[in-house]
Amino acid sequence: MDFRPLLLAGSALALAPMAQAQTALPPVAPAPVQQFGRVSFDQRSLMIDGRRVPIWAAEFHPYRLPSPDLWRDVLQKLKASGFNTVTFYFDWSYHSPKQGELDFAGIRDMERAITMAGEEGLYVITRVGPYVNAELARGGFPGWLNNQKARARTDDPDYLKAADEWLAAIDAIVARHQINGAHGPVILHQIENELSQTSPVHRRYMDHLYAVTRSHGITVPIFHNDQGRNGQWVPDGSPVSGVVHGPVDMYAFDGYPGGTCTADGKVSRGNGAPDWGYYGTGGARGGATASPATPGFLAEIGGGWFDYWGSNGIYACNAQQTGAGYGRLFYGTNLANGISLQSIYMGYGGTSWGWLPAPVVFTSYDYGAAIAEDRSLREKALALKPIGGTLAALPELAAMVPAQKLVPSSDAIRLYHNRSPETDTRFILATHQAGHWTDDTSFTFAADLPDGHYRFPPIRLNGYDAKWIVAGADLAGQRLVYTTSQIQTAQAKLLLLIGRKDEAGRIVLRYGSRPVVKAPAGVGVTWDAARGDLVLDYTHGPLATVEISGGGRSAVTLLLGDDAAGAACWQADGVLACGPALLRHAVKKGGTLALTGDTLAPSPLRVWTQAARVTWNGAPVAMRAAAGKALEAVAPLAGPAPIDLPVLQNWRMAEGTPEALPAFDDHTWQRIDHRADASQSQKPAGQPTLTMDPYGFHEGDVWYRARFKGDANAQRLSLTYGAGGAGMVQVFLDGRLIGQQDLPAAMPRPITTGNLTLAMPDMARAAGDHVLSVMVRNNGHNWDLTAMDEHKEGRGLIAASLEPLAGPAFAVSLDWRIQGRSGGEDFADRTRGTPNNGGQFGERMGWHLPGFDDRQWCATGPALPQGAAGTNWYRTNVKLNVPKGQDATLALAFGDTAKPRSAAQYKVLIFVNGWNMGQFIAHVGPQRIFPIPEGILNHRGANTIALAVTSDGNPANAPETVRLITLQNRRGGVDVAQVAAPATLPVSN
Ligand code: GAL
Repeated sequence: MDFRPLLLAGSALALAPMAQAQTALPPVAPAPVQQFGRVSFDQRSLMIDGRRVPIWAAEFHPYRLPSPDLWRDVLQKLKASGFNTVTFYFDWSYHSPKQGELDFAGIRDMERAITMAGEEGLYVITRVGPYVNAELARGGFPGWLNNQKARARTDDPDYLKAADEWLAAIDAIVARHQINGAHGPVILHQIENELSQTSPVHRRYMDHLYAVTRSHGITVPIFHNDQGRNGQWVPDGSPVSGVVHGPVDMYAFDGYPGGTCTADGKVSRGNGAPDWGYYGTGGARGGATASPATPGFLAEIGGGWFDYWGSNGIYACNAQQTGAGYGRLFYGTNLANGISLQSIYMGYGGTSWGWLPAPVVFTSYDYGAAIAEDRSLREKALALKPIGGTLAALPELAAMVPAQKLVPSSDAIRLYHNRSPETDTRFILATHQAGHWTDDTSFTFAADLPDGHYRFPPIRLNGYDAKWIVAGADLAGQRLVYTTSQIQTAQAKLLLLIGRKDEAGRIVLRYGSRPVVKAPAGVGVTWDAARGDLVLDYTHGPLATVEISGGGRSAVTLLLGDDAAGAACWQADGVLACGPALLRHAVKKGGTLALTGDTLAPSPLRVWTQAARVTWNGAPVAMRAAAGKALEAVAPLAGPAPIDLPVLQNWRMAEGTPEALPAFDDHTWQRIDHRADASQSQKPAGQPTLTMDPYGFHEGDVWYRARFKGDANAQRLSLTYGAGGAGMVQVFLDGRLIGQQDLPAAMPRPITTGNLTLAMPDMARAAGDHVLSVMVRNNGHNWDLTAMDEHKEGRGLIAASLEPLAGPAFAVSLDWRIQGRSGGEDFADRTRGTPNNGGQFGERMGWHLPGFDDRQWCATGPALPQGAAGTNWYRTNVKLNVPKGQDATLALAFGDTAKPRSAAQYKVLIFVNGWNMGQFIAHVGPQRIFPIPEGILNHRGANTIALAVTSDGNPANAPETVRLITLQNRRGGVDVAQVAAPATLPVSN
């Protein structure tokens, strides 16, 4: 169906200019400032209240973490990792179970997400669709939209009416939290998503979106994200020809460069960072040549990638592929190219719980992101901190222009050299040249810098990495001539510089007279009286403290360290603290500095403060004076206590496939008829409408039952069905499984529909009444990346025929009924919402809910014995007691977690306290570990786990052992309330 040749082609197109780009072109003539309330921009950067701000953003989807209190944890971690902005997609489907209904309660409270981001000191970029893609079922379109004949993503009035319903609601929320008027955090707003169809109907659609967005009170700049740097939807008025103009204020594009991981989880390296701006072909502007009047803007820049059903598990590899060196190299190259707005996709991926995922992904949306699915900070998050730190210290980096070409001593090296037209501050990025990505190179160069002509000392660049070198800046009350280290934190009297372990570093500072320097052994101090330069040479390692005073400047403390030393240092609320695993906040009140944060183990604490007293997570900490005007804790901060997890036992079991039995009462089910169907899947003439959507069933499993009279023609059953990625069909005749089929897992383009032909057993030809029962598991509607209504591919049965071996199709008349989620679009569980349930019998009967009384079920102890063909349910209750004040992520682990898949063939829907937390497919994989966020899982109380296991009933396909495991455990965290949700609900068969 719909993988992303287009995206890749887009990226490939965007990559093409790279090879030729070597010489910087002179900057174009200044473009006028365009003002949108407090937000404005010219061709070089965004400005807020007239001040230039580099936008350094990371994407997070609150709907992929259904425990709202934990949103704060993620937002604090993004902030602590150095980002100044969070980007939110919103999922229309999440909020709209049926046309005319929009729900923003509880886990859907997006107003709370935006508010929280503001409280945590982040700007917000809002991306409301209506179409968002995002590896969501239907790309975020609600299920009911699948019944609309109007072509989506066009100006068809029916579609626009539907989209306007959503936009009016979500825009009203966004509007209330804009920086304009409300002083909220929202600074930029995206309409649509990678709309690569650009015909007049699409142009009019975009015109409509822009107009309604403005009419809904959105006053910040509006943009769209081009699929690659293709010049699609460039602001009207751009003088460039050959691009597609549109009703947007800024041009933005997406890019996923840097290579991918192979299916077996190996890192593939070798792709350089594209020059998508100044240093690209003809590219005087980061906004692409397409849009010379707007700043370079990557609405999505790859910070990982998603993973597919049937892979060997590539998230760990993705994390490495887009790791520390990648970040410095790619994000640095973007910046050097004048791309002053970058949003990393994803900052935190999370979980596509329930039926959120599109067929291209399984439950985990870890993405190899900086913050892992279990909310732990990956090494690469720690390496992003200095990038954010450099940008925060020197916002002028956001608005530089190419400066004089620099020539390195080695051909393997490439130097980008930019300067600020306002301050003349320099940004020099050293990368390897294409073809040298694995080289370990030592090089030097000379440059005319604002403070004179300098030859740099030898600098080492090892492999897939880049050096961020700054020169000619006023920083921490000092004059920085240059440094070969990277700036992680700059405060009024403090400068933290980092570099790779054991590599040499230098900082040169300018003084009126020789300052007094207190430096540990190992830091070489040279005074160049002629220039007034203090030169410090050192090797990056454990944190070294240098104190400088006099020389006609205010005193400063320099902290010099390697990556690990930098990783242990955090800035929050203007306070620097080193030692713990995270600093969330530093609040000064009276003489007390109240620090909050996390430890993973007993940790030292060193903090630079004037406060007399320090508390850590509310408890006083005995401190003493330490080097560099710091305070340090006398004793280490405590680490977390280990967590004792109970073994899952006392399972109870029930068979859950009564629909297969001839006597099952289905009179309340809907009759299959010939109703109108907007499906893209053609059904043979004369067939009734079998697909599930027209009957109000959009998510998960759907059942069909057909009665027929025994007939000599009943020789073969032919089914066409739609089941999404790794979906399935099971067919029963008079209570007996006569066939099943899994859609084969194919990467990266899933197979989403199938044909199943079964030879009918003799029974079907015996006189009398027979019942055919068919279950289709719909693993998601397609996304609509190409804007061709791909999401309307049929789901459930598409066609069914009981026929002779040779002869007419539909020879035997089948009288069908259909049943899906209880209540269809009027389902009762509005709390857990649209993604939670499909139409399994157990779901319809509330077997997944914590309040269900399972005492009548068969007790099986610690075992999960195989049951009959179809779906069997297993339930157990478990009490947890995670120590108070600890933030852990617990998970359910299935079978042998060292292997991506099992020999046993079965599928499990995983319910925790009534929440559908994902699907385990034993023989497809790769996911075997399912993190359950606190708030869904009660960490200090009772929990109910219910598993719906579907198989052919063969003993070899019995479910494997299920365990609770701890994925991460820290002392600290945020307060998490249990998400309130009903324990029981009305049932219907
Ligand atoms: C982009 C798209 C996102 C997401 C991403 C891949 O092209 O805009 O929604 O699908 O690719 O994860």
